[in-house]
Amino acid sequence: MGKLLLAPMEGLADHVLRDVLTRVGGYDGAVTEFVRVSGSLLPLRTYRRISPEIGHGSRTPAGTPVAVQLLGSDPVCLAENAAQLATLAPAGIDLNFGCPAPTVNRHGGGAMLLADPEQLFRIAQAVRRAVPADIPFTAKMRLGIDDTAKALDCARALEAGGIVSLVVHARTKADGYRPPAHWEWVARIRDVVRLPVTANGEVWTPDDYARCRAVSGSADVMLGRGSVADPFLARRIRTLAAGGTPAADRSADWAEILPLLADYWAQVQVKVEARHAPGRLKVWLTSLRRTFAEGEALFMAVRTLRGIDETTRVLTAHGVPVLRAAA
Ligand SMILES: Cc1cc2nc3c(=O)[nH]c(=O)nc-3n(C[C@H](O)[C@H](O)[C@H](O)COP(=O)(O)O)c2cc1C
Repeated sequence: MGKLLLAPMEGLADHVLRDVLTRVGGYDGAVTEFVRVSGSLLPLRTYRRISPEIGHGSRTPAGTPVAVQLLGSDPVCLAENAAQLATLAPAGIDLNFGCPAPTVNRHGGGAMLLADPEQLFRIAQAVRRAVPADIPFTAKMRLGIDDTAKALDCARALEAGGIVSLVVHARTKADGYRPPAHWEWVARIRDVVRLPVTANGEVWTPDDYARCRAVSGSADVMLGRGSVADPFLARRIRTLAAGGTPAADRSADWAEILPLLADYWAQVQVKVEARHAPGRLKVWLTSLRRTFAEGEALFMAVRTLRGIDETTRVLTAHGVPVLRAAA
């Protein structure tokens, strides 16, 4: 089967969740949340903070390679920062051409660049020159801002600029995160470029995965929100691809999530200030409740809690095991 990649998700999938999800297994690679580049040369600690994996061969503890994503609009500035980042030997350097956030778009970054394929070319070309050939240089794009009129030109421009592979989130900025994802556009893009194209958008189940592959024609698929809602999604997809049948009864999966939740909670307490820790836990539970009835019950139980100790007590009462805050 093709590759399965864990999507970059700022505010949702940080290195703690990447650790947990890649430990469950099934992923060939992951991408960090975006690092915004605007004007100055970022210190190396910025990359180490977003991607502590850099200190471990740019892999999660389970061994999954992690590429670092940059977001910006100025070719020279992006190239200088990419050269600096390259000294840390990340598993890849990825450029973001899809972020719809107003603060990012106001500065002409993220999805706004999709109006200007020539600028995409200039950016990719400048960064290509700054990144050594042994570090995969990739990009991720949406289909456009309001429509798909420039989607093919954008993909061609990025290829001409020297990226080695492209992820296509099959929606425009105007589409937001609303279904459907237009996987047929991934196929159209594949028709006009030679580089490998990864399909992304609206894959929540193994069934979605099969349809996404069939419609897009892409062997490689990137999983976003579905991977957070169902930590076993990549593994279930692999089971199917190997001819097996994933269990219909998800109670064993929930039992496997409990120690992962314990570990997540312990790591979150180390990573963020105590007053933010319950919020971080709720972010993941908000996704898990989509898939698991037990996740819904747990979410409802911790929903209003603000303190570490009370949250820990409720987690324990719901079967989450050892809750030691890691050193
Ligand atoms: C909360 C959130 C944060 C995201 N942050 C990023 C990001 O930092 N960089 C990026 O390229 N895409 C980002 N995305 C987009 C995802 O990588 C992915 O393209 C999108 O969610 C579509 O895939 P899905 O339908 O499987 O979720 C984000 C999406 C969400 C929901």
